[in-house]
Amino acid sequence: ERIAVVYGGLSHEREISIKSGYNVIASLEKRGSEVVPLDLKRSNIEKLLNIDADLFFLALHGKFGEDGTVQGLLELAGFTYTGSDSEASAICFDKEMTYRLMQGIVYLPEWKKITTLEDIAGWEIFPCVLKPTREGSSIGVMICDDLQALMGEASRLIEEYDAILIEEYIAGREVTVSIIDFETGPVVLPILEIRPKKRFYDYEAKYTAGMTDFIVPAPLDITIESQIKSDALNIYRSLGCRDMARIDGIVKGDRFYFLEVNTIPGLTDLSDLPMSARAMGLSFDKTIGAIVEAAGR
Ligand code: DAL
Ligand code: MG
Repeated sequence: ERIAVVYGGLSHEREISIKSGYNVIASLEKRGSEVVPLDLKRSNIEKLLNIDADLFFLALHGKFGEDGTVQGLLELAGFTYTGSDSEASAICFDKEMTYRLMQGIVYLPEWKKITTLEDIAGWEIFPCVLKPTREGSSIGVMICDDLQALMGEASRLIEEYDAILIEEYIAGREVTVSIIDFETGPVVLPILEIRPKKRFYDYEAKYTAGMTDFIVPAPLDITIESQIKSDALNIYRSLGCRDMARIDGIVKGDRFYFLEVNTIPGLTDLSDLPMSARAMGLSFDKTIGAIVEAAGR
């Protein structure tokens, strides 16, 4: 089979996407597929539509890749691709939309969307987390301990992003839940606990070996473990995800606080979804194979 691997892209997560892309290409070649690689740039978008392939494997992260835009283009062209469709991708890439849809269904931190500094008025919960509504890999994410820090960080972020979220900082255990669609339906992989050696799992902690301890399966009480798994499946289905996703959240006491969905989770050597898959005996190559098969169904 001929598979186009689309990676790189235009977002701030371009470097990560290149790593994901190379890993996917190597894996598909081992599988015996004929691979057509495309480092997607503004200047070669028309190339994308001229590739003759049975399947497009999207190893893109971030804006113009994970946000439904490329998915929409491929839908328009009638091509088959891996991952969620344009609608689910757009929803999941927008943390405000995701929260609006899941509010009242799962636990969420207290949150507020702001587009100007005036919108911060009335926010009283500290520490709090500031994040762009549409970004990945923790880029732009800041923990603010007081109003002064919040105003300072927010004024910087507002310059760069249309909208940002302020969230209650949930002091708990960070977990991530990967899901892959197998023939029988979506399967939740072993829950991964993330223990960054710094205050949170930021860009550096995500992509520098040794800066984070990963524990999989996460040592959790059976009740909270089943709660997380059922919440994750509920979120995956409610938002219309397809083929795979990774759902991030925080465990505090007997509650799982949902933070976000990644519709194209990282596939680098340090990435979470492949690590969870390995914990259930699924090698990286088998994981990529499972995603290809899911997209083909
Ligand atoms: N956004 C990065 C690639 C991840 O979710 O793994
Ligand atoms: Mg993300």
